[in-house]
Amino acid sequence: MIYETVEELLGNTPLFKAGRLFKENNVYLKLEYFNPTGSIKDRPAFEMVKNMMKTGEIKKGQTLIVPTSGNAGLGVALACKLYNLNCICVIIDEVSKDKKNLLQAYGAIVVQCDSSYLSESEGGYIWIAKELQKHIKGSILLDQFKNENNVQAHYKYTGKEIYKDLNGKIDYFFAAIGSGGTISGTAKYLKEKDQNIKVIAVDPKGGIYHSYFYNRPLLYKDHSISSISDSFVPEILKKEYIDEVFTVEDVHSYQMCHDVCSIEGLLIGHSAGFILSGIKKYIEKNNLKDKNIVTVVPDSGERYLDTVYNFNYLSKSLVNITMNNNINTDVEDFCLKYSCYNVHLLNDSSREAIVMKE
Ligand SMILES: Cc1ncc(COP(=O)(O)O)c(C=O)c1O
Repeated sequence: MIYETVEELLGNTPLFKAGRLFKENNVYLKLEYFNPTGSIKDRPAFEMVKNMMKTGEIKKGQTLIVPTSGNAGLGVALACKLYNLNCICVIIDEVSKDKKNLLQAYGAIVVQCDSSYLSESEGGYIWIAKELQKHIKGSILLDQFKNENNVQAHYKYTGKEIYKDLNGKIDYFFAAIGSGGTISGTAKYLKEKDQNIKVIAVDPKGGIYHSYFYNRPLLYKDHSISSISDSFVPEILKKEYIDEVFTVEDVHSYQMCHDVCSIEGLLIGHSAGFILSGIKKYIEKNNLKDKNIVTVVPDSGERYLDTVYNFNYLSKSLVNITMNNNINTDVEDFCLKYSCYNVHLLNDSSREAIVMKE
């Protein structure tokens, strides 16, 4: 198949059956890192930008300001490049170095906020983005948390692709909530096709959605998974398509990411590891067998090399990972003898010393 435009590369991502990891149920992973900028946000980014151009809300040469945890910004930055717009991404300081570098590679100006300066109730970086928009003449704010074309993209494409690839044989759809676009649009499509498909939102313990969904006073506790479960409920979230909010401790996500890599051979992003740890617990709790379960892998582990897949970070964060790798001590002995370094075991300061030496 020959592709001639980047738009043609959007979506139609592969569905991978994780049969080694999940033996008693069919668990399908929609690998969203096959999108042009490597994440699930490409479809909604293009849908939102194209629609803004179609309606005349933004014109060539103008500037779009996007509050983003990185992935949405990448999709918008690419669309801006193609459609001759300028792009400024407003991010929080937790966004990984790799995402920041990628945003700049796609031509975006990146404004990083200091989270200690921001109030959570104001939506933090979204508030800064609004202030910036007042400051930059002729600029337009793209707020993915309010823009219905974010939902629409997943309704038109993600949901449809999943339903088609599985011939409608779906029992459960699981997702986490960032802007709420993925779960709202995909669930809407799936439920319209078949009311019996159960939609489960996976949220970190202490996240806002459990209390929100079960109509209790909103509680929020910070967690370690970037891009999901903010301290506020996005306007576009369609609660009516969600059957249940299932909570799991965020810490299980790390082991799951490493397990998926060693057992299935896929290097998945942090939120995907989190969702899958939720699916595993949900299967155990409800004793599920022979069900068709589908979820999305929003991005790749390559965006989390400094955290989820960095052993120094993990040990500093007191996250214990079991690896199928017991040859490290032998390698260490060899390294000592020949003045080499086992990169895997290096701490940050010895890493810096090596860079200086090189
Ligand atoms: C890595 C990752 N996971 C999950 C999500 C959540 O998707 P949505 O914003 O559609 O709710 C995002 C969104 O930015 C993301 O970047």
